[in-house]
Parts: sequence; C-alpha cells; structure tokens
Amino acid sequence: MKEAAITSPSLSVAQDLKGKTIIVTGAGSGIGRESAIIFSLAGANVIVSDITAESAKATVDSIHSRGGIATFVQADLAVEAEVQLLVSAAVETYGRLDGAFNNAGIGQVGKPLHELSTQEWQRALLVDLTSVFWCMKYQILAMMTTGGGAIVNTASALGQVAIPHAGEYVAAKHGVIGITRAAAADYGAKGVRVNCVLPGIIKTPLIDELSTDPRFASSLEKLLERHPIGRFGNPSEIGEAARWLLSDAASFVNGSAIAVDGGYLAV
Ligand SMILES: NC(=O)c1ccc[n+]([C@@H]2O[C@H](COP(=O)([O-])OP(=O)(O)OC[C@H]3O[C@@H](n4cnc5c(N)ncnc54)[C@H](O)[C@@H]3O)[C@@H](O)[C@H]2O)c1
Repeated sequence: MKEAAITSPSLSVAQDLKGKTIIVTGAGSGIGRESAIIFSLAGANVIVSDITAESAKATVDSIHSRGGIATFVQADLAVEAEVQLLVSAAVETYGRLDGAFNNAGIGQVGKPLHELSTQEWQRALLVDLTSVFWCMKYQILAMMTTGGGAIVNTASALGQVAIPHAGEYVAAKHGVIGITRAAAADYGAKGVRVNCVLPGIIKTPLIDELSTDPRFASSLEKLLERHPIGRFGNPSEIGEAARWLLSDAASFVNGSAIAVDGGYLAV
C-alpha cells in the first residue's frame, strides 16, 4: 500500500506563538532564559521578567540579536504590587496578554524539617507558590478582557514525590500542581487554559557547578540513576513543552501536570 506523504511538522509549528504576548518569569537564567528564546523564535512578543536586571537584559539581547521581539520588566515576584505592575506593563507594551510561563523559583535550603526555620519555610512558600497565585490572579484578569489565553506554571517532579531534606520545596511544588488544577477548573470555560510542567533534574548553571565539585559527585550520581533516560534534561526541553502548552495546538489541554523528566516519575 502506498503511504501518504508526510509533511514536515516543523513548518506548521515554527510560528505557533506568532503575535502572542507572553510573560516569562525567571527569564534571566536556566529554564526561563531558554524558554523565552524558544517562544520568541515561535513568533511571540516576550516579556522577559526577572528579579535580576543584568541577566534578564542578556536574555533580551539574545532575543533581539535573533530578530525577535522582547521587553525586559524587572519584578520581585515575592511582592504582590510588583506582580501587578508586571502584568500591566505587558498589556501597556503590547496591548494584550495571551500567555504566561510562571517559572521563577528558588531551590531548597537542604535541611530536614526539624532544622528548617519558619522564615525559611515562609520564603520558599512565598517565592515558589504564593508568587504563582499572584501571577495567575493578575494574568487571568488581563486575559479575560481579550477573550482568553494560556498559562503554564513550573512545578517539579518534586510536586508529586519527595526527596530528603527538601520539605519546603516539595510542599510548595505540590501546591503549584494544586493551584494549577484549581485555576483550570475555575477558568476553563472562560477561555483561559492552565497547565504545569514537572521538570526532572535540568542542567542549569547550578547543576553544572555541582557537577564539577567532587563533594556532590555521589548525590548527583544517585539522582542520575533516577532518570531512566540516562541523563539530566536541558532547559530547552522544558521550554519546548511549555511552548506547546501555550500554543493553540494544545487547545484541549487544561489542568494537566506534564512530566518532562526523562522518566523520573515513571519508575
Ligand atoms: N533546574 C532543575 O533541575 C529544576 C527541576 C525542577 C523544577 N525546577 C524549577 O524550574 C524553575 C526554574 O529553575 P532553574 O533551574 O531555571 O533556576 P535558575 O536559578 O537558573 O532560574 C531561576 C530564576 O528565577 C529568578 N527568581 C528567583 N527569585 C525570584 C523572585 N523573587 N522574583 C523574580 N524572579 C526570581 C532568578 O533570578 C533566576 O533568574 C524553578 O521554578 C525551579 O524550581 C528546576
């Protein structure tokens, strides 16, 4: 039997975010930076946001050097008023908000629960969870005025399972999955889809740094064993998943927690 001709999917999806205005938080580093570049290559107007100006401006420069459209907006997501200003800046700059990748976050301090101070607990919950609530609150309000949009939050494989000495981070990331599902239930019928990605260990500058330090060699080896694919991920592999979730190609995907983890959660 003659097979039907296969058309290259890359041409049809290459510009799948064309003309969409998308906020990326934590866009000065790691997953956020790569994702911002990927969204721009897919045709988005990207609001590159981070608490750190220098690194985020480098992301904007990188987008501009490829001919993309991006604007830097500095925001500390641990402050509600700054989150509100970030969303207003996106709408003022490009006239509307179509998507958001709420990705900024901080890692665990590395202590068992009984050694964790209340301040350390509260900081993790504030930056890794409450900020996602604030981001969604103002983004959804903006999106509903122009007919809807899509939001992707960065949770973690540790939003579904735990590792030792990471209680505050594990709790916050479980919360990100929960609030993603709750928002999907509230806004699905109003045209706003909300999903989250669950990265496994991703090779960001922090992991690269730990890899060169012999003190962390055995713990990194143990973590690697938990990835059946046999390697850690690249930031762009999270960005590609987020790009798809933000695009109209994922129009029936709502309230999902998508593992992008080399099989970490499968075994
Ligand atoms: N790298 C991994 O292995 C991994 C695994 C699972 C989940 N994640 C999650 O992915 C996301 C991105 O992680 P990454 O590895 O790219 O980290 P990263 O440290 O490279 O980038 C995080 C960015 O968030 C910014 N940020 C921190 N606090 C902020 C605040 N209060 N306001 C605004 N911006 C702030 C930082 O300045 C930084 O640019 C995080 O939510 C993290 O929890 C990462």
